[in-house]
Amino acid sequence: MRTRIENLKGLATLRKNDQNCDFLAGNSMDDWTMIDDAFIEMDSGLIHDFGDMNACPQETSNIKIIDGTGRFILPAFIDSHTHLVYAHDRSEEFNMRMHGLSYKEIAASGGGILNSSKQIMSSNEDQLLDSLLDRLEKSRNTGTAALEIKSGYGLTADSERKILRVIKRAKAQVSQKIWSTFLGAHALPLSYNGNHDAYIEEICSNMLPQFADEGLIDFIDIFCETNYFSPRHIDILCNTACKFNVPLKAHVNQFSSIGGLQAAIKNKAWSVDHLEFMTKQDHQDLQKAFQSNLSYRKPIPVALPGCSLFLDIPYTPGRQIIDSDLPLAIASDCNPGSAPSSNLGLCWSLACHKMKLTPKEGLAAITTNAAYALGAEKKMGHISNGIEANLILTKPISNLAFMPYSFGENNIEHTFIAGK
Ligand code: NIG
Ligand code: FE
Repeated sequence: MRTRIENLKGLATLRKNDQNCDFLAGNSMDDWTMIDDAFIEMDSGLIHDFGDMNACPQETSNIKIIDGTGRFILPAFIDSHTHLVYAHDRSEEFNMRMHGLSYKEIAASGGGILNSSKQIMSSNEDQLLDSLLDRLEKSRNTGTAALEIKSGYGLTADSERKILRVIKRAKAQVSQKIWSTFLGAHALPLSYNGNHDAYIEEICSNMLPQFADEGLIDFIDIFCETNYFSPRHIDILCNTACKFNVPLKAHVNQFSSIGGLQAAIKNKAWSVDHLEFMTKQDHQDLQKAFQSNLSYRKPIPVALPGCSLFLDIPYTPGRQIIDSDLPLAIASDCNPGSAPSSNLGLCWSLACHKMKLTPKEGLAAITTNAAYALGAEKKMGHISNGIEANLILTKPISNLAFMPYSFGENNIEHTFIAGK
């Protein structure tokens, strides 16, 4: 059955019917068209028609009609970077940090990622699935229609598989579109006694081939950082991943600039995530990657402002990135240790308040550009006819800027996923 929403106060679209939109870079991130007094029609899960109320079809039979007075329709949010499978929160570590310990000190004393990995080991698949489904519902209620979920709190073949299987089961149960990412190289298990090379070898020769064969992974990821994994490990990992056609998404430049960005670009990463610490050289190398005419996908930068807020570290220089004519995507990074919130509306606010993006640039970062970070830009992330009807119907609000302006509020009345 068709659904039509009428009398909308506004509908935020790109150039109408632009099916060829890949990503929005530089000035074009602010270049949304707002149709005032609008309607939109969905049919069989797709956007069927939209436009000015003057052009609204008159037929009413077999159509569910919703009155959108005072409300806006936006593309639904897409979260291209989350770690949503974990056993327990780490609010105790937060408490320790608020008493003066640093994230690094807590990690060095057995807390952090290793703490989450111990907890995964003693949880079963059903328990992990239940908590994941709760988190997915929460993210849907705050406007997220599609998202990527990483493993990475397992760190052994059995535990990593457990997480990836939980993600696979969730894919079959929820309406949100989900991509799964194998982040075995998230931290070095204690049993490896400081031998990072040996653990990367275990990932490449054992875990990755099995998981790829079992159809458990869409992407591979690695935490490239001082005391974690090096740019050389990115090379080794990708050497194997490319044999299985599994593209890279990489955690780079979160606390320091050690060449992770360059290694990720060289290995054709689909996205480079974090980037809180960027040198001038890093900026130039990222720009170069977008200027090259090579035909593979561009490594879109993904900022994670929830992590900057929570760990009190610098924000990714989003303003500078956009001003140098690059695209920017934004994701929640939702995880128990550095960003315990999946609320992309809050990330939108942080993008404006802390990274100095305009409201429309912020919207582009959590919709169109987030879709590109997942290779889904032809299917979702903007409003045009024939693509998936993944839409947000806001509560009555005064204008689009009200969304990021009213930080911490949920101004979403309904999230439509494939028209439902
Ligand atoms: O993206 N940086 C690496 N991984 C996560 C944090 C992991 C944790 O502390 O549990 C992140 O911020
Ligand atoms: Fe992350």
